[in-house]
Amino acid sequence: MAEAVRVKNIGLRGVTVADTKVSFIDGENGILIYRGYRIEELAQNSSYTETAYLLLNGDLPNRQRLEEFTAQLVEARKVPEYLHESLKKWPRDAHPMDVLQASVPILAMADPELRDETRPAAARQAVRLISRIPAVVAAWHRIRRGLEPLPPDERLSHAANFLWQMNGTKPDEEVAHDLDVCLILHADHTFNASTFACREVVSTRAHMYASVTAGIGALSGSLHGGANAQVMEMLRGLEREKDVPGWVKKHLDGGRKIMGMGHAVYKTMDPRAKFLKEMGLRIGQKTGQEKLTQLSRDIEEAAVREFEKRGLSTIKPNVDFFSAPVYSMMGIPGDLMTPVFAISRIAGWCAHIIEEEFAEAQERPALYRPQAEYVGNYCGLMGCEYHSPEKRA
Ligand SMILES: CC(C)(COP(=O)(O)OP(=O)(O)OC[C@H]1O[C@@H](n2cnc3c(N)ncnc32)[C@H](O)[C@@H]1OP(=O)(O)O)[C@@H](O)C(=O)NCCC(=O)NCCS
Repeated sequence: MAEAVRVKNIGLRGVTVADTKVSFIDGENGILIYRGYRIEELAQNSSYTETAYLLLNGDLPNRQRLEEFTAQLVEARKVPEYLHESLKKWPRDAHPMDVLQASVPILAMADPELRDETRPAAARQAVRLISRIPAVVAAWHRIRRGLEPLPPDERLSHAANFLWQMNGTKPDEEVAHDLDVCLILHADHTFNASTFACREVVSTRAHMYASVTAGIGALSGSLHGGANAQVMEMLRGLEREKDVPGWVKKHLDGGRKIMGMGHAVYKTMDPRAKFLKEMGLRIGQKTGQEKLTQLSRDIEEAAVREFEKRGLSTIKPNVDFFSAPVYSMMGIPGDLMTPVFAISRIAGWCAHIIEEEFAEAQERPALYRPQAEYVGNYCGLMGCEYHSPEKRA
């Protein structure tokens, strides 16, 4: 039995609940590492497919393994036809995150190895999920606009195929590469809320799809992955604002948050944000959308200055602050930004689920079961006396 430790920490901040070999964050210095590799190194040199392999398998693949893994991903891209038929019956104004979350159990039903609890079967399930999550998002975006879903194109890379299945046009190579880099940057982030949700669910011996469904639910929240869509709304709302510093001050004075700012772990600039900021400036210049990147810089400068004045100098832009304008300039609509986060994070979720299920970083699997301090109605250990409804106040 694990030793009982009496700590109360609302929100589990700073409490270590497991060992992991998947990724590491140095929040003070703004460093994020996947399986030993800095994300800057991966973003500059790797591909999402290779990074997904790294996260799932612990090291980068040699040429032959990379080719095999790529072929497995490409082969798994097709979703069952009955999922498309089902999606066509759903309300067209349904949020893509709800649609994605509801689709994962349908993908589970189509998995021939759902009840196979071996490590190799889990790795194959991960491959199917990594390939099919983007296919679902793309199919839904077409169906909700009255268009037919498109078959995958096996010649295209992971990111390019997603853009093709969503838009039905051959994606620009540079856009596809930039999206691939975004997917690398979002692929994992240690024990963030959605990853913890996945690990918590698999710790009960639920299957991988059930765990991923929980992760998608957690990611949808505006304090987590949903923040990018909120950042986009803020940017759209401020397009005509003449006094950005004044808006920032008023917003904070009203007790509201600036979305895309602050982080539970980083006390300096999020390393992913740094990368995305530069990418945004480049795309803005190339596509003549500098107004958007300028607005985002104006908000950043005003907010950082205002936070410093208020003694909150550790609040800096996070990944969502800069991914929102980048995705927008790539033509990705606001409500697809969080699903695109899921398209990337699925690799990290699966890596963590496998690590948790097969105790790959600690001695044996453990069921997460924290405690809560009861602060509710209490009449002693005999319990309160039951009265019929007529006798109740
Ligand atoms: C991410 C986040 C939840 C982490 O915050 P945290 O570590 O829990 O820190 P807290 O929320 O306790 O913040 C500490 C203080 O800074 C303030 N703060 C933190 N982020 C803020 C923001 N973006 N805007 C305004 N105030 C903020 C809090 O209100 C709090 O003030 P208080 O002590 O007066 O209540 C928080 O920064 C946030 O809500 N950011 C906006 C949402 C977002 O971008 N999420 C994506 C994260 S990748």
